Amino acid sequence: MSNKVVIGAQWGDEGKAKITDLLAQKSDLIIRYQGGCNAGHTVVTDGRTFKFHLIPSGILYKNKICLVGNGTVILPEFFEHEVNDLKKENIDLSGLKVSPLATITMPWHTEVDGYSEDNAKKGKIGTTKKGIGPTYTDKMARIALKIEDLYSPEALSEKLDVILPLKNKQLKEVYGLKTYTKEEVLDLCKNYAKIFEPYVCFDWQDMLRKFKAEKKNVLFEGAQGVMLDVDFGTYPYVTSSNPIGGGAATGSGYGPKMIDEVIGVAKAYVTRVGEGPFVTELTDSMGDTIREIGHEFGVTTGRPRRCGWFDAVTMKYSCLVGGITSIALTKADVFDTFDEIKICTAYKDKRNGKLYTSYPTDVYIHKYLEPVYETMQGWRENISGIRKYEDLPLNAKKYFEKLEEILDTPISIISVGPDREQTIFKK
Ligand code: IMP
Repeated sequence: MSNKVVIGAQWGDEGKAKITDLLAQKSDLIIRYQGGCNAGHTVVTDGRTFKFHLIPSGILYKNKICLVGNGTVILPEFFEHEVNDLKKENIDLSGLKVSPLATITMPWHTEVDGYSEDNAKKGKIGTTKKGIGPTYTDKMARIALKIEDLYSPEALSEKLDVILPLKNKQLKEVYGLKTYTKEEVLDLCKNYAKIFEPYVCFDWQDMLRKFKAEKKNVLFEGAQGVMLDVDFGTYPYVTSSNPIGGGAATGSGYGPKMIDEVIGVAKAYVTRVGEGPFVTELTDSMGDTIREIGHEFGVTTGRPRRCGWFDAVTMKYSCLVGGITSIALTKADVFDTFDEIKICTAYKDKRNGKLYTSYPTDVYIHKYLEPVYETMQGWRENISGIRKYEDLPLNAKKYFEKLEEILDTPISIISVGPDREQTIFKK
């Protein structure tokens, strides 16, 4: 048995879906443990492209159980849409399960998220407007609906009697938004119950016990990335969940001892969508070049991603707080035509020359920081067809080994293209 967690080690969009997809082949149970449809994952297989938001991409394989875990927040209409898209492609969904403890994103959550983003005069986060923050806020405030409530008229009625007066007051007085009657919400919930009915896993405890007893392989699928973690990321420019490896324990139903490895997925460069600090961001033509070659546009929102050189300062931090045991480096082939490749090894404070090799968590000073780079020679060769580490050009190997040295963490996988086959297993 070897249970692995796949997490994003940067600001999301690192190519986790491909790595998860590869590892899913050898897993029996795949659990998505946090986030919601703010995530966007693309998997390319046999010339077909699939876009996932909530459903684990492991569903593309037969005989796998894919659980949308208790730590997730689910926008029912979006879930339905994703299910229908997969059905259209004739994907077998018999292994798809949803935890009854997952939290429901209600219409007021997306409305408040949209309102806050559109009207923020200061402190705009640049969210995906999918209601993620407001849903997690209500979860923590103990005024959220869980999937299981949809099937318990008593729980639903009692909860709504508490939730609606509070919500309506807030919607009307704080945001000037539409309020909801209990009848309206009960009607919505009736529809939600139908959407989830084929997938709700009421016997999840027995299922997890069985997988554990039979020593089956479990893959925990993280969304977003460590630098967007609500505890450790560039707060407040973060998402509202825990994409770190530790999130797998709270968001799945298994404890930390079930985890053998944490694979941190990182691009050979860095991208970010939304607002927030990004010390190695390239706002010049080099940034445009990376965006164009790397096709760096959001899957969920279509927004152009901000691009920059590999930031070993944040990555070292990610390895620590994310619990990363090895790295999957993606999009290495984007550098195939580059003469030089830079790695940021430290930050320098422009005000006083102070050097930071450990990540400074006070993001309000990041505007004063500039990257200190180590420059590596490019390999100027197409590596997208290479499958064995030893066949890589010398300069490519030098680059990967330099990263391992700085990060003190091994690289286990190198991705050299979007297809499943375009992968080098380093150890
Ligand atoms: P939220 O998760 O929609 O609340 O957005 C909060 C921040 O996380 C914003 O900067 C988003 O752009 C970012 N974010 C959320 N999900 C993803 C993702 O899957 N990839 C990259 N960034 C994300």
